[in-house]
Amino acid sequence: RLLIIDFGSQVTQLIARRLRELNVYCEIHPFNAVTPAFLADFAPKAVILSGGPSSVFDDGAPQPPAEVFELGVPVLGICYGQQVMMHMLGGHVERGHGTAEFGRAYVTPTEDRIDLLNGWFLEQREQVWMSHGDHVSKIAPGFKVYGTSPNAPFAITADLDRRFYAVQFHPEVHHTPNGRTLYENFVKDAGFTGDWTMEAYREEAIRKIRDQVGNKKVICALSGGVDSSVAAILLHEAIGDQLTCVFVDHGLLRLNEATEVVTMFREHYNLPLIHADESELFLGKLDGVSDPETKRKIIGGLFIDVFQKYANQIEGAEFLAQGTLYPDVIESVSFSGGPSVTIKSHHNVGGLPEKMGLKLVEPLRELFKDEVRALGRELGLPDSFIGRHPFPGPGLAIRCPGEITREKLEILRKADAVYIDQIRKHGLYDEIWQAFVAILPVRTVGVMGDGRTYDFACALRAVNSVDGMTADYYPFTHEFLGETATRIINEVKGINRVTYDVTSKPPGTIEWE
Ligand code: XMP
Repeated sequence: RLLIIDFGSQVTQLIARRLRELNVYCEIHPFNAVTPAFLADFAPKAVILSGGPSSVFDDGAPQPPAEVFELGVPVLGICYGQQVMMHMLGGHVERGHGTAEFGRAYVTPTEDRIDLLNGWFLEQREQVWMSHGDHVSKIAPGFKVYGTSPNAPFAITADLDRRFYAVQFHPEVHHTPNGRTLYENFVKDAGFTGDWTMEAYREEAIRKIRDQVGNKKVICALSGGVDSSVAAILLHEAIGDQLTCVFVDHGLLRLNEATEVVTMFREHYNLPLIHADESELFLGKLDGVSDPETKRKIIGGLFIDVFQKYANQIEGAEFLAQGTLYPDVIESVSFSGGPSVTIKSHHNVGGLPEKMGLKLVEPLRELFKDEVRALGRELGLPDSFIGRHPFPGPGLAIRCPGEITREKLEILRKADAVYIDQIRKHGLYDEIWQAFVAILPVRTVGVMGDGRTYDFACALRAVNSVDGMTADYYPFTHEFLGETATRIINEVKGINRVTYDVTSKPPGTIEWE
């Protein structure tokens, strides 16, 4: 495995992404967690020093332990990683005085070629992404220059004997188009064969689950989303009926969703599943509530109570399984108020393990989202299931502004089903990040046939996004919107007006509440 030492760059996670794409297993650890003892235990086959916001001139500037350079394995320094390498190995770094460089730059090769740059410079120069204030002014003994840019004479440097490489730019970002090739050459040099596949992961994960759980019982909250589904199937493969899943049905799911989830897991996967149909309880407590935060709190609180109630019926359970993903557990370097380590931990069923005295099993905690999808495919989940749009925990409650009634929920389910059907028929489902209908708390006047109608209005929402943090509304054609509005009004009793939400995020949010 490969160790990425994080110095706080915004793009460190991308390094891991690039390496995983090359089927190389790697882990990110913050610089202050990488002690000599840690290093000896981790025994990396190669090390990457990330970029970061510090200057090697700062008091207490972050450094890797010197032992990194004594492991006898290839080391790649990126941006701040390059500077700290030069600084520690006998080179010189200069403070940037107004010579900061941010953005696109072009690197040209020097006379000598090295394997790290195989596939580079086929067109004389390579576009790279720079983002630095300080720069290296003298390279360390043993190093030579293999690429330069107008503002970074030491853009690419290496000490071939020791297999140390150091670059000023960021090969992991999209704006360094040939960056993947550089990583590919680097990991090849380190002896990685790209054998970290989902097939291998599946076997390894199963072995680890068995080691951890032994013959004890495990409970799992299954939401029907990709993460918890993949975690449940993997666990079931590992420990069979020692696993029981609890599917908390709050009555706020989409049309036929509960039945589909229950059928798939029970019948197709033979998974012991409790269908906790508590819609009466949830809808009862939500009766008359219109404030969005109150709705969320009620649903979150009840979810925990209900899960606990059902979980308590499973005698002797010692473990709780969660679909925690790698981005939730990466310890990130934070520089606000001095170097410190913040650990983001993720509790889908907030605080429950402690409360119930359960130990956690998190079989996906090494994976990124797209790797979970790949694992799901490996486990035989259909593409249509894996590619489903995100769906919020509080469900349709937050797509029903104002008071939630059964009538409104039923109308909303039907309208949503027609809308998604339209999107699928037009082959747009996989192009859109998330799409849904919100039913508005307003009735408007319409005319159908010879009669007057006075029914609900609804809003269609469709956005594209990478991570849900920002989003653009999806540019449907007018024909598509017109056809969809007609279908909804004709097919869904209770709606007589359809609008399209063209708000981006920010300033809007994706959901209506
Ligand atoms: P917003 O509305 O905040 O949504 O722009 C961003 C993404 O997060 C989803 N979302 C939630 N998911 N529990 C969840 O599991 C929630 O309470 C929740 N609220 C919003 C939303 O569907 C979108 O994908």
